[in-house]
Amino acid sequence: MDVQNQFPSFKDKVYFDSGASSLTPWPVLKKMEEFYTLYRANIHRGDHALTKKASHEYEEVYSKLARFFHADEGEFINVRNTTEAVNGVALGLDWKEGDEVIVSDFEHHSNLLPWLKLKEKGVRIRVMASDAQGLLAPDALSLLLSKRTKLVAFSACSNVLGASVPVRELAKSAKDNGSLVLLDAAQYVGHHPVDLRQWPVDYLAFSSHKCFGPTGTGVLYHRAGAPLEPWFLGGGTIRTASLDSYELIPTRERFEAGTPAIAEWIGLGAAIDFISKTGHEKIEAHDKELIVSMLGAFSNMPKVSLYGPREARQKSSALFAFNAGKLPPHQTAIMLDQLGFALRSGHHCAIPVTTKLGVAGTVRASLHLYNTVEQVQKFADVLGKLSQMG
Ligand SMILES: Cc1ncc(COP(=O)(O)O)c(C=O)c1O
Repeated sequence: MDVQNQFPSFKDKVYFDSGASSLTPWPVLKKMEEFYTLYRANIHRGDHALTKKASHEYEEVYSKLARFFHADEGEFINVRNTTEAVNGVALGLDWKEGDEVIVSDFEHHSNLLPWLKLKEKGVRIRVMASDAQGLLAPDALSLLLSKRTKLVAFSACSNVLGASVPVRELAKSAKDNGSLVLLDAAQYVGHHPVDLRQWPVDYLAFSSHKCFGPTGTGVLYHRAGAPLEPWFLGGGTIRTASLDSYELIPTRERFEAGTPAIAEWIGLGAAIDFISKTGHEKIEAHDKELIVSMLGAFSNMPKVSLYGPREARQKSSALFAFNAGKLPPHQTAIMLDQLGFALRSGHHCAIPVTTKLGVAGTVRASLHLYNTVEQVQKFADVLGKLSQMG
């Protein structure tokens, strides 16, 4: 079966909004249906066969994540999404006045606001400046590192500019400085393989719904030995409790208070299987083809302003922010929608990026495995005509 047929399709719509959320393939939908129809029970809370089966399927996902990222199963924490994962680290570390956090200037609000909030505790936020296309110079980080740098937090791919980020080099220089590293991989996982033996990061966050999985669940990778205290407590987190004290489980369960999104977590496992079965080589090659054809299309539209890199080798994913002539972004997106294309418009939860671009917002086309070069050509025809109106 070819890849496009593995996704329930929108017959009358071309979906170019995968940066916001990717589509879900049949094997993921079927796996969640399996949970709801065959072993719908809570996990780790009883001795009957249904809860045992649900618990087994749930636990399997940690093994899949471990194989997929080349790490240990105990290093993965089930959270709601990237946003919760980043907040969890911000809340779960011990901050002292004068500590510094370094972020890039292209972060999504979810990897910015949790750090800005730490200013209330006397933490200083320093910013790595990227160039006009969102690319970081090799010394962008080293210029800022100091004894005070407690953590460096950056994304592996900007959700507005889609520029490549030298993850390994940045992580390595932060580690050499003795700092902790958090990687926001929301726009990266699902497009590229991640080998955590090669990337010296302490924390990595991503959302299931951006890599073919369901909404409502995500992952915080927490390298063994890196500091982190639970930011929520409750059922499932303790070894023992009394009316005036408790003892936490030493393993990852101490971070997973309450009943998790069980079906969604199991669905994420199916999404991981789907990516592995499809193969990263195929996904990356397809992305590359889409990037090249989109860049070619944009270069033939003089009235369209494209933001971010214009060279395929500098793009991390097929994600393009643009404005069509003088048309306001929301108007462009509404017109494109009426013409059969689903795209996001606005500030994309990264207001510092649009501010730096000097625009109120942009339209964003973000493509994935199920999109085709034919769709890009149709899109280019339509956008070329629209841009003449502005
Ligand atoms: C780079 C980046 N980080 C974080 C997020 C937040 O993801 P979520 O809304 O799934 O928590 C997004 C969402 O678009 C993103 O693109």
